[in-house]
Amino acid sequence: MVWEILASGSGKCRAASADRGVRTARAALLALVVTLLPLRAMAFPLGGDQTVLPAGTEFSEEALARPREIFHSEAMGGRKSYLVNLGDLAFNSPSILGGKARQAEMSCGTCHVNGASNPKLFVPGLSSRPGTFDTTSLVFNAKTFNSILDPVRIPSLRGARFLAPYGHDGRMTSLRDFVYNVIVNEFSGPRPQDEVLDGLVAYINDIDFLPNPKIAPGGRLAPQASLTERRGEALFFKPFPKQTELSCAGCHIPAGTFNDQLRHDVGSGGLVKTPTLLNANFNAPYFHDGRYDTYEEVVGHFDRMFDLELSTQDTQDLVAYLNAVGDGERAFDKDGVVLRMKEVLELSSALEVAIPAADTAVVSLAVTGVGAELRELTEHIPDIRNTSIGGKDERLAARAILKDLVLTLRRIDLEVGAGRIDEAMAEYRKFAQLVNFDVPVALKKAEPWSLFNSNVHQSHYTALGRMLPVTSRQPQ
Ligand code: HEC
Ligand code: HEC
Repeated sequence: MVWEILASGSGKCRAASADRGVRTARAALLALVVTLLPLRAMAFPLGGDQTVLPAGTEFSEEALARPREIFHSEAMGGRKSYLVNLGDLAFNSPSILGGKARQAEMSCGTCHVNGASNPKLFVPGLSSRPGTFDTTSLVFNAKTFNSILDPVRIPSLRGARFLAPYGHDGRMTSLRDFVYNVIVNEFSGPRPQDEVLDGLVAYINDIDFLPNPKIAPGGRLAPQASLTERRGEALFFKPFPKQTELSCAGCHIPAGTFNDQLRHDVGSGGLVKTPTLLNANFNAPYFHDGRYDTYEEVVGHFDRMFDLELSTQDTQDLVAYLNAVGDGERAFDKDGVVLRMKEVLELSSALEVAIPAADTAVVSLAVTGVGAELRELTEHIPDIRNTSIGGKDERLAARAILKDLVLTLRRIDLEVGAGRIDEAMAEYRKFAQLVNFDVPVALKKAEPWSLFNSNVHQSHYTALGRMLPVTSRQPQ
């Protein structure tokens, strides 16, 4: 059927979204197929073309990359606070959302992968194109349904503390209110505890832009910039010929974070807040509705709307400049055992505080959130019925120890629930011991036969692709 997560290698976003996002989205798809098919047919009469991928779309090894996430607190030489870790946990836990989203195992992190965007997420009926999503549909919450299909681009949350007011239309000045609304109104979740909401806000506020050595302090190009980039920068600052009160830099203020925290009508359908241009190379598709794939198209839009009379050379220069400004150092991490274990450690660290405090809500959150992460990790290691790949003993051992870990987590939950804090702490120490020592060793041994290995990955998804009713995407 048409419910399918599509992948597109469009524009600047050649590198993939996180594998987790795609996989979670696939889980979402399966649940949605079951629960929402009649709805789709009723509410959104769609042609079949959404299931067709542009020729040349590739997934390949890119799916094994995950957007790099940088935290302000760590970049400053400190440590992430308990609240930030708690927020990270909640951000990646489907259980904070409600109804359909929870059933579909979607979390905030499904769309904002590692705090970035997810240019590949596509849910037919809710996305007009990959990387967009209609947050006001009937599917997740009847209350917010506005009876039109109006998907918007999933934004990156890097540098979010500079990006108020929130929403493409800047409808909320408070991040806390925005997040509350996402949980309760958009995804029918239960009213979050104050602590969880504080955590989410702290986490989102801690997500930094990726460093970009091409920009010097003050937002000007660094000395090594090329001639074309410099010409682009000059144009960026130059007043528009017909409306001299305007310039690119007037709205995308380089001395700030290349935005002005205001809303403008730039001829794209009403008032829209100025997006930041920092790390924007990884934020395609562009504009609030994701209508443009490339900077060329965006510059073309401004040229038409504001009569800029740009020459071909001008356009090229501006695009070169945007590429320099929008860059980010090492934008993707290679997915693998090391990265996953680091994540498990970070997500479970909330337990260290929550168990002694007998905070059953946070303990449950950690148990479901870390549990989901561990399940994903297990799915990366094909079970031994799969005889087409080697490493039988290694796979067996790795899956067994992961199961052990999940059971230990469940016991923590039970003990805390029963008020046996000492016993829970003892289980937690066992858990930490496993996570820090035994599990990474076992997983490392199994890694060559896991989906973290690109060859295994490819043959696995090729086989999976054959089983799907509509295989509109290329094998990964
Ligand atoms: C199904 C995909 C999806 C999920 C799940 C999701 N979001 Fe979003 N998020 C979006 C889209 C699409 C927008 C843009 C909405 C708009 O502009 O009106 C957005 C916007 C945001 C923004 C505003 C960013 C800005 O610059 O204005 C924040 C903050 C945010 N989401 C946080 C969250 C949190 C926290 C969760 C989980 C509780 C979450 N999102 C879950 C798709 C998603
Ligand atoms: C009046 C303020 C204003 C001016 C002047 C302006 N922009 Fe923008 N820019 C915006 C707004 C608002 C958007 C978002 C439009 C939308 O989402 O529909 C935007 C979007 C963009 C985007 C897409 C970013 C993304 O992530 O979607 C780029 C790139 C961009 N502008 C570059 C430029 C360049 C180059 C110029 C000069 C030629 C320019 N802008 C002039 C306000 C402005």
